[in-house]
Amino acid sequence: MSKVRVFAPGTVANMGCGFDVMGMTLDGVGDVVSVEVSEGDDLEIENRSHVELPDDIEKNVITPAVRALMAAYGEKRMVKFVVEKKISPGSGIGSSAASSAAAVYALNVALGRPFTDERLVEFAMEGEKLISGGTPHADNVGPSLLGGVVLLRGYEPLDIVRLPVPDNFCCSVAHPEIMVSTRMAREVLPKEIPLRTAVKQWGNVAGLVAGLALGDVHLVGRAMCDVVVEPYRKRFIPGFDELRVKVLAAGALAMNISGAGPSVFTLSADMDVAERVGEIMREHFAEQGIGSDIYVCKVSNQGARVLND
Ligand code: HSE
Repeated sequence: MSKVRVFAPGTVANMGCGFDVMGMTLDGVGDVVSVEVSEGDDLEIENRSHVELPDDIEKNVITPAVRALMAAYGEKRMVKFVVEKKISPGSGIGSSAASSAAAVYALNVALGRPFTDERLVEFAMEGEKLISGGTPHADNVGPSLLGGVVLLRGYEPLDIVRLPVPDNFCCSVAHPEIMVSTRMAREVLPKEIPLRTAVKQWGNVAGLVAGLALGDVHLVGRAMCDVVVEPYRKRFIPGFDELRVKVLAAGALAMNISGAGPSVFTLSADMDVAERVGEIMREHFAEQGIGSDIYVCKVSNQGARVLND
């Protein structure tokens, strides 16, 4: 029998303008998944978390991700997972992605590493397909598995580009106690956008990638502007525009919705600013009668990893 315990970090998908194609890795926040592999042919998932997960295994994001891996592996095994969720589902910081990323990473190690980390991204994406209403995307599972900032240049075939993370890249994330499902946050989006809007957005995505490649955090901040998705999703976040005015005045370079929301994140070039901005975000939601969890951290270059007990 082979046993492996893995941590996979939370992530900020989209990074503002890069809907479904950009994501970055948070430091210290994430899920832990253990796996035991033995002879046989079955899948079990045990939840040892403070958060509820679906009783039906078919509704757990780990299931399609693991089935995809085992189908590619081509041999049968008894696979038993224990999930310790540290990120609340529906938070917008890659909760489901962290679980499926940790599960496929752990299983790959237990099987003797037959697959590359990039291939694991393809398997973990199947979990995202389950919760998003049918669209597989890798802007959470990519950074959760690989670490750093990840660009999905294309999906058919999957073309993953890992971008450099500037040293002074500080992130403040506020997770307000509001429920917004990924499925709902995707259903409100338009199926088509005007060319003028697309021109603004691809200028920003190009600016974001250039800013990362050049290590220019101010260019990154200017480019983190989403004219396609944010207008439809910000209605779920009370006082979104007002909060942005406050955090920019406090020195943040940009503020956007994290993934499908309701978390919001800011980027700062200085940890003191990031800490102050975190407090402003907490106060903002408290004024609206909404509690929030605040995370202030650097963007991490480390993705999923084995834990030594
Ligand atoms: N890119 C995805 C979205 C991330 O914004 O819907 C959440 O899975």
